[in-house]
Amino acid sequence: MTTAIYPGSFDPVTVGHLDIIKRAAKLFDRVIVAVLVNVEKKPWFTIEERTELLKKAAAGIDNVEVASFDGLLVDFAARQNASAIVKGLRAVSDFEYEFQMALTNRKLDNNIETVFLTSSAENTYLSSSIVKQVGLLGGDISTFVPDCIKDEILLRIKQRSKMI
Ligand code: PNS
Repeated sequence: MTTAIYPGSFDPVTVGHLDIIKRAAKLFDRVIVAVLVNVEKKPWFTIEERTELLKKAAAGIDNVEVASFDGLLVDFAARQNASAIVKGLRAVSDFEYEFQMALTNRKLDNNIETVFLTSSAENTYLSSSIVKQVGLLGGDISTFVPDCIKDEILLRIKQRSKMI
């Protein structure tokens, strides 16, 4: 049985993330979407909220689980008996950062491979930051995020817009 981890901040999950989740689920027997801490980011949603949003968004996909972890990704992967880390690549601009993380993770644990899936063409521009920025400025985010969690994301955007 092949297990892959799809890690990220998912602040919040977008349709681009969901596309990678669905495609990874076809390649591996079990996919664990892991909400992890990125020390370089200040999230809008708590880890618990991000996990709940992901659970709703991925509810229909049988071999996908959602979990959270606040340690090293490779430690989480070893605990889950995973053989691969899945990452989505949107553009060349993603490459340097992702390459650095992949090499770091291999240095930390030689038993786990990073597998890159290229984003679908229609999602190449999309990121959680774009969702937050467009939402904050009153733009329509409905095609950026899964429909079933759109209202929860809009509510947080409304709360944040009152803070500025
Ligand atoms: O969606 P992001 O913010 O680009 O995801 C980055 C993430 C969360 C996958 C990365 O920061 C991570 O793996 N964090 C866990 C801690 C860790 O293992 N750091 C060393 C990996 S370079």
